Amino acid sequence: MKLLFIGDICGSPGRDMVKEYLPRLKRKYGPDIIIANGENAAHGRGITRKITNELFQAGVHAFTMGNHTWDNREIFDFIDEEARMVRPANFPEGTPGRGLTYISTPAGEVAIINLQGRTFLPPLLCPFEMADQLVETARKRTKYIFVDIHAEATSEKQALGWYLDGKISAIVGTHTHVQTGDERILPNGTGYLTDVGMCGPSDGILGMDRSAVIMKFMTQLPVRFEVAEGPTQLNAVLFTLDKITGKTSKIERIRIDAACPFME
Ligand SMILES: [Fe+2]
Ligand SMILES: [Fe+2]
Repeated sequence: MKLLFIGDICGSPGRDMVKEYLPRLKRKYGPDIIIANGENAAHGRGITRKITNELFQAGVHAFTMGNHTWDNREIFDFIDEEARMVRPANFPEGTPGRGLTYISTPAGEVAIINLQGRTFLPPLLCPFEMADQLVETARKRTKYIFVDIHAEATSEKQALGWYLDGKISAIVGTHTHVQTGDERILPNGTGYLTDVGMCGPSDGILGMDRSAVIMKFMTQLPVRFEVAEGPTQLNAVLFTLDKITGKTSKIERIRIDAACPFME
């Protein structure tokens, strides 16, 4: 089983990178499933039905989300019916959508779980306890279990990675938009990467226009952020999962800079 995960898709520059490079990534790696974080796909704020369909068309099979899930109100019209999208499972009970879903692939079914950290983010339910519950549920159905922990603190992501080592196939962090270089297979077989990074502008600040972000830091006044322009990047990670155990046998970090393409 080959699982490709694409980091936070940021606005139209991020969507364009996915459309341009996903066909090449598919040719090169032959992934059985492609999952992407979509919380910033609509101009940095949430996602719309149209954009969801556009990215499905481009080859994405399922979306994880995060703290920006509700930024575009259109999501309330389709998240309950869209089984190919998960939002953080530890949002309060009764929240629209789901935090665990299953996607069929030619190599078997994959369980996808989305969780959100609580350090420097709203005080949600405990992501560790929620992970326990959902992993137990998912394991009854499939050996391939993937987790996206959407969190600010590296320590919280590492903690959940170690906590789940041996219980799931792979776990990645999202949200900070800057790819980390610490991909590894933990001792009990779970693939791990602290942050996948993002798809979108390379010369902004986390994908947003620099001047507005700098202004915000300097004045502390409310400032509206816009998606940056200029050169773009695509950040992703590929996991090869063992067909007997479901654990990670290989992990490969992917970073494409549109200014200097890495493959023909
Ligand atoms: Fe994000
Ligand atoms: Fe986020």
